[in-house]
Amino acid sequence: MNISYYLHKKELNRDDLVFLLGRTEPEELDQLYCAAREMKKEWVGNVDYYRGLLEFSNRCIKNCCYCGIRRGNRQVGRFDTPKEDILAMALWCYEQQYGSITLQSGERQDEAFIDYVEDLLREIKSIGNGALGITLCVGEQTKETYQRWYDAGAHRYLLRIESSNPKLYKTLHPQDGHHKWEVRKACLDALAAIGYQVGTGVMIGLPGQTLEDLADDILFYRNQNIAMIGMGPYVVHHNTPLGKKVSEAGLDSPEERARRLRLSINMVAVTRLFLKDVNIAATTAMQTLHPLGREMALKAGANILMPLVTLPQFRNQYQLYDNKPCLEDGQEQCRNCLSARVASVGDTVGWGQWGDSPHFFNNLK
Ligand code: 5AD
Ligand code: SF4
Repeated sequence: MNISYYLHKKELNRDDLVFLLGRTEPEELDQLYCAAREMKKEWVGNVDYYRGLLEFSNRCIKNCCYCGIRRGNRQVGRFDTPKEDILAMALWCYEQQYGSITLQSGERQDEAFIDYVEDLLREIKSIGNGALGITLCVGEQTKETYQRWYDAGAHRYLLRIESSNPKLYKTLHPQDGHHKWEVRKACLDALAAIGYQVGTGVMIGLPGQTLEDLADDILFYRNQNIAMIGMGPYVVHHNTPLGKKVSEAGLDSPEERARRLRLSINMVAVTRLFLKDVNIAATTAMQTLHPLGREMALKAGANILMPLVTLPQFRNQYQLYDNKPCLEDGQEQCRNCLSARVASVGDTVGWGQWGDSPHFFNNLK
């Protein structure tokens, strides 16, 4: 069976997803990405939306084996962005017509943090009379906390499942009772029950991850009714348990990195073909593995970009993986650079719009 059979099939099943994810021949990849781009045009248009990404603190109580700001990494200095600066950045995003802002940090569950975020949300919400959409990405919390933040003005929440396979998830996290797949999944359910637009995603090209796992990740997105997807390649961070293991096993070669990038772009394309009306981000990790990684993702069906608005003096302390791009840039440069990337693939920017996933509203009908 050749690839066009699959690209014209009405309903793709798990085996079809596995087949499409595993394509490697350039002509086949061209056809796959073209079909996904057509699907993007039909369902969400050739318009890309911006979410200013403000990484406001790198303090984290978790110890994920892959992440450069894990609690156990003592080589990284910890920072908190002063509240005035966060508000100034939110105002800047509003003035730049970014439409919405994403507040990201490491995970904390203490009362002081919960109160702080709640106040912050109310203050950001008052900018332009609620004009700026707010996405939160601050980890696992109780349902009560999620509700408080929703009431304070957050309407979208990103929490990656990292892998839909609980066994694989186990290999990526310490077994200390604080890194449980079931808890992560319950958080996604709680967020949806409250009424958030929920985003999730996975890392791609992880040691031990199969094409079947990736197909199951896409099925997980569908079963969870996910509106927004942020996924990208796994990238080594030198001072992490997983990064060291992968490097020592010789699994961080240029060929391996190219494989992880290709798989990531395939995931974007197949997810677009399968889920049609969701928002899919072209993530920074893709650009880490190839200078044009984000453009490739936009061409293969992604429609969201997250220009960094993290203060330049803190950017090098928020490195989840090695060689993160844009460390030297200010927010102006990130804006202009991404606009050029959008134009280069023939898309336009949805300035000043929230750019909600049509899926969320199609679902409510
Ligand atoms: N490579 C790629 N993505 C990573 N993340 C954390 N560490 C890495 C890494 N080494 C991703 C995780 C997390 C998100 C905030 O960043 O998926 O959910
Ligand atoms: Fe903390 Fe998130 Fe990094 Fe895990 S991935 S260590 S929760 S910042």
